[in-house]
Amino acid sequence: MSHVVSSEKKIGIDAIRFYTPSFAIDLHTIASQRGIDPNKFHVGLGQHCMSVMPPDEDIVTMAAHAALPLIDEQNKRDIHLVLFATESGVDQSKAAGLWVHHLLGLSSSCRVVELKQACYSATCALQLAISYLHMHPTEKVLLLASDNARYGLNTPGEPTQGCGAVAIILSVSPRLVAIEPHQGVVADHVMDFWRPNYLNEAVVDGKYSTKVYLNTLLKCWEEYSRQSGHGFSEHARFCYHIPFTRMAEKAHERLSRSASSQTCATALHSQIEPGLLYSKQLGNAYTASLYIGCASLLENELEDLSEKRIGFFSYGSGCVGEFFSGVVQRGYQKALFREEHQSLLTSRAKLSYEQYKDFFTYQLPEDGGDHTTPVHSAVRFRLLGCRNHERLYQ
Ligand code: HMG
Repeated sequence: MSHVVSSEKKIGIDAIRFYTPSFAIDLHTIASQRGIDPNKFHVGLGQHCMSVMPPDEDIVTMAAHAALPLIDEQNKRDIHLVLFATESGVDQSKAAGLWVHHLLGLSSSCRVVELKQACYSATCALQLAISYLHMHPTEKVLLLASDNARYGLNTPGEPTQGCGAVAIILSVSPRLVAIEPHQGVVADHVMDFWRPNYLNEAVVDGKYSTKVYLNTLLKCWEEYSRQSGHGFSEHARFCYHIPFTRMAEKAHERLSRSASSQTCATALHSQIEPGLLYSKQLGNAYTASLYIGCASLLENELEDLSEKRIGFFSYGSGCVGEFFSGVVQRGYQKALFREEHQSLLTSRAKLSYEQYKDFFTYQLPEDGGDHTTPVHSAVRFRLLGCRNHERLYQ
């Protein structure tokens, strides 16, 4: 998808806000429960903590919470396209975005759809939004990416779970990042990670998935750098899909070697580290992870990134990968939510192992009857339960 830039119109990310539920478990707790050295998680995977979904929240409530602070009266008038990316869908037919559209009181003159391709679909949504904005330059697009990453208790993937949502406003003359027109895209049929309709947890060949991730990155980079003419050193910072932060570090080291960059280890580290801070605490949020990483970079990087290029690598198992780039806009600091995001992460209640297990194993009954979810979250939007096969939200 190459965007034909008819004029010098800049299109991209105008605002980015994420949300994660107010419960988390320290990976120390998991490590001691499983009799594992906590350094395996802290150093080996680069993870410290992960958010846990309470029974009365889901991808809809998370996405609504993420978007709420972005929806002022002007944006309500300007948004006519809502794209919802997820691999934790709550209905086979109705787009999760329609519940969010309703909860936020968006305009009825609006296209709303759900997109799926593992962790990649938010990036496809972003590129579709940019093409759409070339045709509808006075409008804005609301991109939602929301997921609950589940592998199961006592599995190798357990310490790489997490949950969260991101809401992104895309527009012409964006305040944060203008997306550039070249991409390196690769699709391949691989079974590294998937979730059949009848399972609540992913089936994953973990070590194989990390190899496919790295190989796909190199192929995407090759195509992106061929098309754009941009070398490694022309990117000031890099954001990767973050299933666990050590994966992004390995990806960056591998890319640097493959691009024959002379960048030293310390400089390589500083090119990605500010972007990993939120994910170390939140865990994997599948479709949202790359963009939570982008918020983390913009909000935690001490250097002024104005007019600097960021390289983005999006990966979704199965698999589709895409490398693309964007340029940070002057004055971006004024459009960030640094304090709000940091307080979301630091104010989460830390669960004991038993509480985590209860949240993890809770399931809204699937018999179509009337059921009320237990109240855990003191938040604006809650999943109340279901009645006659219908999910009910507050
Ligand atoms: P594991 O069994 O924990 O692997 O599974 P391990 O035993 O090899 O240990 C992991 C690392 O910890 C190793 O480092 C060990 O050496 C180190 P490495 O060799 O990799 O550099 N280690 C220690 N370090 C310090 N002190 C210690 C210690 N002990 C060991 N005491 C695995 C790890 C990632 C496979 C597992 O967690 C998993 O299956 N995760 C889920 C799959 C995943 O995240 N894949 C990533 C790529 S695919 C992707 O990103 C897409 C995805 O987001 C889904 C989507 O697209 O929708 C997942």
